[in-house]
Amino acid sequence: MSLLSIENLSLAAADIPLVSRLSFAIAPGERLGLIGESGSGKSLTAMAATGLLPRAITASGSVRLGGQQVIGAADRVLDGLRGTVSAFVFQEPLTALDPLMRVGRQVAEPLRRRTRRDGRDLDGDALMREVHALLEQVALPQPDRIARSYPHEISGGQRQRVAIAMALACRPQLLIADEPTTALDVTTQAEILKLLDGLVRERGMALLFISHDLPVVAEVVDRVVVLKKGIAVEEGPVAEVFGAPKDEYTRSLVAAARAFDAALEGTP
Ligand SMILES: Nc1ncnc2c1ncn2[C@@H]1O[C@H](COP(=O)(O)OP(=O)(O)OP(=O)(O)O)[C@@H](O)[C@H]1O
Ligand SMILES: [Mg+2]
Repeated sequence: MSLLSIENLSLAAADIPLVSRLSFAIAPGERLGLIGESGSGKSLTAMAATGLLPRAITASGSVRLGGQQVIGAADRVLDGLRGTVSAFVFQEPLTALDPLMRVGRQVAEPLRRRTRRDGRDLDGDALMREVHALLEQVALPQPDRIARSYPHEISGGQRQRVAIAMALACRPQLLIADEPTTALDVTTQAEILKLLDGLVRERGMALLFISHDLPVVAEVVDRVVVLKKGIAVEEGPVAEVFGAPKDEYTRSLVAAARAFDAALEGTP
């Protein structure tokens, strides 16, 4: 059975269609990329998958996450899915962090919820030890200092590592990462991607990875869906879609990525 199954999903804002009749599924442990230019509906689709849509957006069709219907579901049902079935890493790490709470306490919250779910109630010291272990897993230096810091006292790359630690603390079956490295410099981007990729593989999690950066997507996922103005124009294994794109729009995305690579290498 699919972990996430989207069928004929349409999204609109005041009758303006934003996503039209979109269908795709993710099996347990599978890694799917959602690509497309800015404004093509990638983030809205990810939000719809977890019941996080803004109020102004209406949804029709079906979104089943962990066997539960998400569209029209009560908050109680959605709360039960968040963290257990799916967890989110956002484009801008500050979205996930409370500016007024020390990093250690923020990581401790999802960790405590998950360990309770597993029937383990950790006391303060044991919980903090696990927080430090998680901060080490996301390769944060000096986990002690980071845990005591407020989000504004650490760098953007470190904040995104903290956000990844919080998502991993949930041990979700599906990790949704919406352009998790766009806000970072190129070197930090590469490090964070490698980290995310390694941790997701190690834990056998399914991944919905959103990006407009084709080379990045090709490294991280097995299969891609290409969105253009809210419509899926192509879907298939990475090597097929990028190697021999059938759709004109995918061809233009691939050509743009190649031209960019060539420019970087200084070749015409
Ligand atoms: N709350 C909202 N109300 C109305 N329209 C919205 C809302 N949020 C997004 N949209 C519109 O929906 C479309 C898709 O937006 P979305 O954020 O999903 O794009 P995206 O593919 O994630 O783009 P990017 O790569 O820039 O993040 C855009 O035209 C956007 O303006
Ligand atoms: Mg987006």
